[in-house]
Amino acid sequence: MDALFAPASPAFLADPYPAYAELRARGRVHYYEPSGQWLVPHHADVSALLRDRRLGRTYQHRFTHEEFGRTPPPSGHEPFHVLNDHGMLDLEPPDHPRIRRLVSKAFTPRTVERLRPYVEELAATLVRGLVAEGGGDLVGAVAEPLPVAVIAEMLGVPEADRGLLRPWSAAICGMYELNPSEETARRAVAASVEFTAYLRELIAARRKEPGDDLISGLIAAYEDGERLSEQEMISTCVLLLNAGHEATVNATANGWWALFRNPEQLAALRADPEGLPATAVEELMRYDTPLQLFERWVLDDIEIDGTVLPRGAEVALLFGSANRDEAVFADPDALDLSRPQNQNPHISFSAGIHYCIGAPLARLELAASLRQLLRQAPGLRPAADPVRKPNFVIRGLESLLVEV
Ligand code: HEM
Repeated sequence: MDALFAPASPAFLADPYPAYAELRARGRVHYYEPSGQWLVPHHADVSALLRDRRLGRTYQHRFTHEEFGRTPPPSGHEPFHVLNDHGMLDLEPPDHPRIRRLVSKAFTPRTVERLRPYVEELAATLVRGLVAEGGGDLVGAVAEPLPVAVIAEMLGVPEADRGLLRPWSAAICGMYELNPSEETARRAVAASVEFTAYLRELIAARRKEPGDDLISGLIAAYEDGERLSEQEMISTCVLLLNAGHEATVNATANGWWALFRNPEQLAALRADPEGLPATAVEELMRYDTPLQLFERWVLDDIEIDGTVLPRGAEVALLFGSANRDEAVFADPDALDLSRPQNQNPHISFSAGIHYCIGAPLARLELAASLRQLLRQAPGLRPAADPVRKPNFVIRGLESLLVEV
């Protein structure tokens, strides 16, 4: 098992999909000793477990660490955990729906649709810059600045401060990899302390002088009904700022690398850049999944294929594997940008109560940068092999050098 599922190995990271196929062939659940987790590779199981209330993102709403048979995290890690554990992604009912209801108003398809002209214009400007330079790093020039600017704008983070967000987010996201090192934890803690202090000040400033941004909206909700504590507000902002760009950056870069490796598919898109089909974005999200794995705690015993996973166990749901499951997708290893929507039930945005709140925004951003790059850079091609990030869970490219 350890030889097959090797998230630290560069060869596995370059292409984990053959190993996933083997895992699916060997069974529905596999114990992975190094992280002490049960790997779940099949689409049907991943999809069902995401909706199963016997599992949770946390156990702390029902059990203490000791009751659950787990050692509490070291006290030095506390700033990270306080920040992380008060965000909706790491909460379960009743806290989760209370916070999600407040935030979700800002992310309905209708509200997001109003952002379209701004997002399109921003994508056009960034791509114009890349073209004017004759090319460059697609990640640094387009994939990253677009979603960072959009989510920062929505929350009302001043333009001058936006450079702070990427390093903080990257440091915090290191903790979502399997078995983070003490050095990773140290960086995440430092970033959590700084990010918290920054948002505390920004929230205080918006409280004095509200704007029409999301932070001011959360303050209004907070002061109306006391439904968000100060810590929940800070954690919500950090979650939105981080989740609001990390995966979109990687989906954009992974998507273009997939297109470059499938020139006939890219040529079909180029033949009609204005008519970019919605199926293209969905297929790119499926084909090289930006978030490969999500974890759930077993709160009440469950059984999978005759194996009992007891309370206290942890499952690792393999989204990247589920998205290539031959039981669900025809010819799953082929990139097919015209794959019909009703035959592409990819799981990249999750399912159940934690289904990605930003999915409509992510889709809008991905389509905007794709369209602008097809339109303004019809000859876009790689100038070198991409540099892959050394991470497994958050799958993406460090850089993708292109020529126009
Ligand atoms: C391609 C881009 C994106 C991908 C692949 C993605 C994927 C996901 C996934 C898989 C989850 C749920 C994880 C789980 O079930 O444990 C999630 C949750 C979330 N996402 Fe996204 N996301 C993307 C973009 C965004 C954007 C643009 C935002 C903007 C705000 C966002 C905000 C959130 C939030 C707040 C949650 C937590 C929802 C909850 O716990 O109820 N995401 N996302």
